Amino acid sequence: KTVAIVGCPFSGGQPRPGVDRGPIHLVDAGLCDQLKELGWEVKFDDHHQFEDISAASDPPLGKLKNPRLVSKVTEAVAKTVGAHARDGQLPLTLGGDHSLAMGTIAGTLSAHPDACVIWVDAHADINTPETTGSGNIHGMPLSFICSLVDSSSLGGTINGEPTPFAWLDKVHLEPGRLAYIGLRDVDAGEKEILRKHKIPAFSMHEVDRYGIGQIVEMALDRINPGRDKPVHLSFDVDALDPTVAPSTGTPVRGGLTFREGHYICERLWETGLLVAVDIMEVNPSLEDEASVEQTVAVGCSLVRAALGETLL
Ligand code: ARG
Ligand code: MN
Ligand code: MN
Ligand code: MN
Repeated sequence: KTVAIVGCPFSGGQPRPGVDRGPIHLVDAGLCDQLKELGWEVKFDDHHQFEDISAASDPPLGKLKNPRLVSKVTEAVAKTVGAHARDGQLPLTLGGDHSLAMGTIAGTLSAHPDACVIWVDAHADINTPETTGSGNIHGMPLSFICSLVDSSSLGGTINGEPTPFAWLDKVHLEPGRLAYIGLRDVDAGEKEILRKHKIPAFSMHEVDRYGIGQIVEMALDRINPGRDKPVHLSFDVDALDPTVAPSTGTPVRGGLTFREGHYICERLWETGLLVAVDIMEVNPSLEDEASVEQTVAVGCSLVRAALGETLL
C-alpha cells in the first residue's frame, strides 16, 4: 500500500497569507515517517510548484477573486491526484486552502467515477459565483464540482484564453453523493442550495443529538448505503473546535472535539473504502507558536487515523 503525498502550498482561494505554509509544516513535523511507521510506502517528491499568475493579470471575474490562478492550480492538482489514484496509490493532499478540493475531487472522480465524498467542515463551501458574499473561492469548490456552475456563466473566452474553470465543466459529482459533517456556519444562499439539492448535511446540532458514531453511519447510509463505493474524505481543520485546531483562517466556535474528528477518520479507514484524503486550511501564521504546533500535530494525527492508526 502506497500513499502519495501531494503538498499544495497554495493560498489563492482566500485572503489570509500563511495557509500556503500549512503543507510544509505538516511534512516538517514528520508526517512521512509517521506513515512509514504505520506500514505505508510513502511517495513524496516535494511540494507542488505552482505556476504564478500575478494579481495584475488576474482581476476579479464578477465577484470571484484570483479566478485564473485558482483555476490553473486546481487543474494541475486534479492531474496529479488523478494520476496517483489511477496508479492505485492513495493520494493525500495537504493544503493550502480548501479551493484545492476542486482539484482533489476532480482527480478522484477521474480514477473512480462512482466515488462519494465526506466533507468535514464548519462551512459548506458550496457558494456559487452568485451567492458568494466574500468572493473567496475556498467557499465555493463544491458548487463547481456538483455542476451548479458552468464556466459559460462566467463570461466566454477572455483574450483567446479559455474561461477560468472551463476544465471543470465536464466534472460532475451528483449532489446526493456528497455528505457533510460538522457544519455550523452556513450562508443563507448555501442553506437554500443544500435544501434544493437534498444534500445530506449533518451539522453540529445533529452531532450533539445523535453522537458522532451514529452520524458517520447516517452519512454513509445516505451516500453509500451498500458500503461498496469508493470514499473521498475532505477534512477542513476548522471543522474541529478552535480550542483543538486554533491556527486556521476562518475558525468558528462550537466545533468537533479531538475525538469526534479522529473518530470520523478512523471509521472511514475501517470501511476499507477510502481512496483519497485531503487535510486543508492549516495556517501556521495564525495564533501563537504553541497553537501552531498543536494544530499541525492534530493535522498529522487526523491523517494517521485516516490511514489506519488504531488506539489498540
Ligand atoms: N462561507 C464563507 C465564504 O464563502 C466562508 C467560507 C470558508 N471556507 C473555508 N474553506 N474555510 O466566504
Ligand atoms: Mn471551513
Ligand atoms: Mn462541473
Ligand atoms: Mn472548507
